[in-house]
Amino acid sequence: MNLLVNRQRFPIPPDWQDETLLAVLREHLGLSGTKFGCGAGQCGACTVLIDGHAQRSCLLPARAVGQQAVETIEGLAGADGRLHPVQQAWLDERVPQCGYCQAGQIMATVALLRQDPAPGAARIDEALAGNLCRCGTQQRIRAGVQRAAALQRGQA
Ligand code: FES
Ligand code: FES
Repeated sequence: MNLLVNRQRFPIPPDWQDETLLAVLREHLGLSGTKFGCGAGQCGACTVLIDGHAQRSCLLPARAVGQQAVETIEGLAGADGRLHPVQQAWLDERVPQCGYCQAGQIMATVALLRQDPAPGAARIDEALAGNLCRCGTQQRIRAGVQRAAALQRGQA
């Protein structure tokens, strides 16, 4: 089988196919931006996009992804190195502290803003409720989401 990750196809040999998508990304494809947190579907650190939807990668067998498109934090910036608006907003708002949860927070935000380009506070909290941050950056994450939404609308 192949996996389509960040618009690139990677051959996945049989002995990798029953590993989790997270393990394949990190250990076999060298895409270590997606983090291993709890390994139990509870923290959101391993969030990637699968056909545009935010999903945990720590419990999902690579085999189950099939032909769906996977996006990770490494695929967000443009080919010219230009940051994605969510990444730019995170820098502008100085969101991260230790940074461990932030790839997952950013990917969940990308999915949210594709569905709702101007989310209110309640919608942001709902969309990111499963992405935990032990450093307490939730206030700055909310500000980052609002700024990213404004950047995408050309209003920042
Ligand atoms: S590492 Fe996947 S939800 Fe925590
Ligand atoms: S920034 Fe440290 S866990 Fe979120």
